[in-house]
Amino acid sequence: MLEFVFHNPTKIVFGKDQTQRIGEFIKEKRCLLLYGGGSIFKNQIYERVVESLKNYGKEWIEKGGVKPNPVLSFVYETIDLARKEKVECILAVGGGSVIDTAKAVALGYFYEGDVWDFFIKKVEIQKALPVYVILTLAATGTEMNRYAVITNEKTKQKFNIDSELVYPVVSILDPVNTYTVPKEQVAYGCVDAMLHLLEGYFTQTYPNTPIQDGFVETLVKVLMETTQKIFESPQDYDSRANFMWATTLALNGLTTAGIGSFGFPNHIIAHSLSAFYDLPHGETLAIVFPAWLKYKFSEKKDRISKFGEAIFKERDPEKVIEKLENFYTSIGVSVRLSQVKIPEEDIPALAENAYGFAKIRNLENYTPQVIAEILKLAK
Ligand code: NZQ
Ligand code: ZN
Repeated sequence: MLEFVFHNPTKIVFGKDQTQRIGEFIKEKRCLLLYGGGSIFKNQIYERVVESLKNYGKEWIEKGGVKPNPVLSFVYETIDLARKEKVECILAVGGGSVIDTAKAVALGYFYEGDVWDFFIKKVEIQKALPVYVILTLAATGTEMNRYAVITNEKTKQKFNIDSELVYPVVSILDPVNTYTVPKEQVAYGCVDAMLHLLEGYFTQTYPNTPIQDGFVETLVKVLMETTQKIFESPQDYDSRANFMWATTLALNGLTTAGIGSFGFPNHIIAHSLSAFYDLPHGETLAIVFPAWLKYKFSEKKDRISKFGEAIFKERDPEKVIEKLENFYTSIGVSVRLSQVKIPEEDIPALAENAYGFAKIRNLENYTPQVIAEILKLAK
């Protein structure tokens, strides 16, 4: 195992009936309550949050309308509102899109220039408003991590920031809040969290990491099993709870501590698909990842066998990739560009777009040619 620093400051409050405790944890007086397209009104989460804020004497203003694959123009609008209303913290009630928007607003609040500067790494992040979270959709891990992903819809760039200043202060994870998450979002969340685990597992530079391998393999198994169980019984508490905690642990720094340098090439390529066609993040990953494994086959085949043995009791690497694709298909997620109607002619432009992000993330070896080769394997 290699040297590492592991420090994750987010306080997690997990379990049934925890949502109504949010007021207890917020230190500031005046909040911006941020949410998405309105699911929080249908499942009573909104009422519980507002009641708690009232009980603890908080003042708040509200803004809804964050859309999946959240966009920069909405971030600008929300920064203006937050400044005008002089809020002292942000309470994000939603999934990854709402939470990432809250993080971007938290950074933009104190910065005189364009908040996008942080995403293109033009300036160092210095200060952020505190962010609190009520998680309503288990998938991205943003409730306990240092990332936020926003799409600049003008330039068609879907980029992320990476800063310890955006770890949420407190995240409430009540599995009951996810009972209403529909099947397709559960499936996308499953694929997304699997990839958060597997990007590290398949790109890590240090070979001898039994603890981290074990974490990854166990979490992948739990994700796959609980997805099936949630499909059968959407209100099964234990399945929702295990799924939720697995998705959080998949991208909070735990499974990659000690594995040496690693990359997120599948995410970089997948983000271009979302930037161009507004596709769900999980679906884009299910299209890119099998193709990436095929492209890297000779280099990665021993690792694919190890993964296959742990997950599918199958060592033949070709069959392992096939089983993975079959699993994605079985939960209703596309695995080919053609299934989501992306024509082959678009591949060069997609590859060029993804290369722009790869450079920022120090993966220059993912040239437009390499990315195009990978995408061709996903036709
Ligand atoms: O907007 P509402 O009405 O709330 O509906 C949402 C949305 O339509 C719905 N939903 C959320 N909670 C629900 C619910 N529906 C019923 N019941 C509930 N309890 O689900 C839909 C999708 O929500 P969204 O927040 O977009 O999904 P997700 O959590 O998967 O977030 C995806 C975004 O996060 C980014 C992705 O790229 C994408 O932009 N990611 C963020 C990461 C991070 N910050 O660490 C890492 C990931 O790799 C990922 O890139
Ligand atoms: Zn992801």
